[in-house]
Amino acid sequence: MADRSGIFAGDNPFEIARRWLAEAEPEELNDPNAIALATVDADGLPNARMVLLKDIEDAAFVFYTNYGSAKARELDGAGKAAFVMHWKSLRRQVRVRGLVSREDGPQADDYYASRSLKSRLGAWASHQSQPLASRATLMAEVARVTAQHGTSPKRPPFWGGFRVTPVEIEFWADGAFRLHDRFVWRRETPGAEWQIDRLSP
Ligand SMILES: Cc1cc2nc3c(=O)[nH]c(=O)nc-3n(C[C@H](O)[C@H](O)[C@H](O)COP(=O)(O)O)c2cc1C
Repeated sequence: MADRSGIFAGDNPFEIARRWLAEAEPEELNDPNAIALATVDADGLPNARMVLLKDIEDAAFVFYTNYGSAKARELDGAGKAAFVMHWKSLRRQVRVRGLVSREDGPQADDYYASRSLKSRLGAWASHQSQPLASRATLMAEVARVTAQHGTSPKRPPFWGGFRVTPVEIEFWADGAFRLHDRFVWRRETPGAEWQIDRLSP
């Protein structure tokens, strides 16, 4: 793309995503790595919620959650997801669509181990997306798992990562008078070559 330069420079979309996130980190009030994750349920009804992006790898994006949650059911069921990152401070967004697989091996163990003890125990205590009788019930469950697992809990088998391997990544930056810049990387399958296009705003 002859006219793709500045913040859009480079042919590797994962490097651009990493660069934009690094630029957002000192600017955002909190959670610069927050993404709005979209899934579809078994009836095709879309669903969306925020999660925190924990890794931009060489070929995929990784976040962590509870495998019993609504989102996990939808991710496992469809095998596909989309997400968007928006930085109000930079007036930029990144959109991703792709295929989903679980990350429930050593990488998930390492990430789990890096979390605070309270967060690790919280993961054991929360039956995410299930009805909960009261806050007190949750706190009682926290006390129970704390007594059971002590100070070095293992990663719960029902908690881990998901990896989104994109077939589409779009970078958007605010322009004067709504004449924004958009560039999209698209490919038929994760193994195929990227096709890069500028899109009308
Ligand atoms: C800024 C922000 C970050 C969040 N990060 C996560 C996350 O990394 N993992 C997660 O499971 N839930 C996270 N949540 C909570 C989810 O938005 C959601 O409430 C929860 O995962 C249950 O979603 P589900 O019922 O669709 O599975 C976050 C919420 C917010 C507002």
